Amino acid sequence: MPVKDSCAIVIFGASGDLTKRKLVPALFELHCQGLLPEGFAVLGVGRTAYSDEAFREAQREALEAFSKTVDATPEQREQFINKLFYESIDTSRREDYAAIRRRLTELDKSQGTSGNYLFYLSTPPALAAPIVSGLGAEHLQIPAHEGCWRRLIVEKPFGIDLKSATDLNHMLQAVFKEDQIFRIDHYLGKETVQNLLVFRFANGIFEPLWNRNYVDYVEITAAENIGVEDRGGYYEGSGALRDMVQNHMLQVVGMTAMEAPSSFDARAVRNETLKVFQSLRPITPENVQHHTIRGQYIASKIRGRDVSGYRQEKGVDAESRTETYAAVRFHIDNWRWGGVPFVVRTGKRLPTRVSEVVVHFKPTPHRIFGSLGTGENITNSLIIRIQPDEGVVLKFGLKRPGAGFEARSVAMDFHYSDLSDVRLPDAYERLLLDCLHGDATLFTRGDAVEACWAFVDPILEGWRSNPESKIYGYPGGTWGPPEADRLLGADGRTWRQPCKNLSENTDYCEL
Ligand code: BG6
Repeated sequence: MPVKDSCAIVIFGASGDLTKRKLVPALFELHCQGLLPEGFAVLGVGRTAYSDEAFREAQREALEAFSKTVDATPEQREQFINKLFYESIDTSRREDYAAIRRRLTELDKSQGTSGNYLFYLSTPPALAAPIVSGLGAEHLQIPAHEGCWRRLIVEKPFGIDLKSATDLNHMLQAVFKEDQIFRIDHYLGKETVQNLLVFRFANGIFEPLWNRNYVDYVEITAAENIGVEDRGGYYEGSGALRDMVQNHMLQVVGMTAMEAPSSFDARAVRNETLKVFQSLRPITPENVQHHTIRGQYIASKIRGRDVSGYRQEKGVDAESRTETYAAVRFHIDNWRWGGVPFVVRTGKRLPTRVSEVVVHFKPTPHRIFGSLGTGENITNSLIIRIQPDEGVVLKFGLKRPGAGFEARSVAMDFHYSDLSDVRLPDAYERLLLDCLHGDATLFTRGDAVEACWAFVDPILEGWRSNPESKIYGYPGGTWGPPEADRLLGADGRTWRQPCKNLSENTDYCEL
């Protein structure tokens, strides 16, 4: 649906990486699809002293390098580029925000942006407070008239622990109302994460099985084959648990485990995911070694190529104890999930880039075919592939043709790529569009962020203070420390070894 309200997007951190790699290409795609309003402008804000023309030139190059939009005409490109403007300020100086107010008033007149402003914080976390109070000092958060809106998008990381996240919430809420604040988690913008909701709540056949009576365990993986690249400086202060688990992976847990909302609106959906986060059984610093495994990639040779270890990366301490791999086993203490283990794992420099949810169902109570001695142990699982080769696979047993009753595992699969007429939009396209529509369903609410930190904080504390909590080295190109198998218990449960290709299952390393 096209955005009906004319508006301006103000991007703080406009000379940064996210703007050129994600935000501008996403807006360009929306423009080409005719989804942006006629009265529209982007005001880039940053310390770098650009003129409008220099900023436009930089974004032209960015589109060249990062836009995936096909068939854009040169006219569409120029039309879009002409909607980009730039204001250079020192974000720490309150008086500089008057320049932003003046510039926005001008854009309202010249571009017809109608006083509707979306402020996008694409800046390091330390700049959030000065920017938000600068906007507050100019009353830019207050809609100028009835029917006009002001919104704020906040990028991750949202705090580094519960206290800093709570402080950040208070700071934002002192200026903006909660319903004006859109905390971005780009995993919620992924088509396949949203599909979890449709898959569960638009079908009658899966939901009756989606509980402790039928589910054995739930496994969620977000693996990457790259290392930390040039982000060592940031990653040192973060690690895999903060970088991926506290936000993206717990959001996926929320969507997988939530109850059906009473309706599909932001309040109802977010109330249900919050309940999941509030039901996470705490892992205490004292028992952290039984519920988590952390690892760090070490120097290795992958297919004859030398690959550096984490401690040799730029910006990383030579004795760093920051985890590049984290696996956590936990329970959700509610009626639906009582007794069902959830295991999540994420890591850098694993064999391939893959994110997926696997629901493993309980085996039959009595294995008559297994007892013939020739049959495999058939188990049923449902794999919801978030990326790549987005799709869904259901695994079940069938008779192997021929004599006897040997069972074999087969798969029924759906791949998004089979829908040749459908293009999967980038997460930022979806999230920017939703925010311009004022729909917060796919954004994280303040209370949910705090509930996730409340779960993660004691793990971090345990890793820091519990002498029994070790950090294991793992060679690049492997599935992390083998000790992670321990989290699955002794009942024959195993981690899936997914490939890039959803339907394949072979030993594979893409590095
Ligand atoms: C980011 C993390 O939030 O998500 C990165 O900071 C990580 O470290 C990235 O690489 C993964 O996102 P995606 O969409 O590539 O799975």
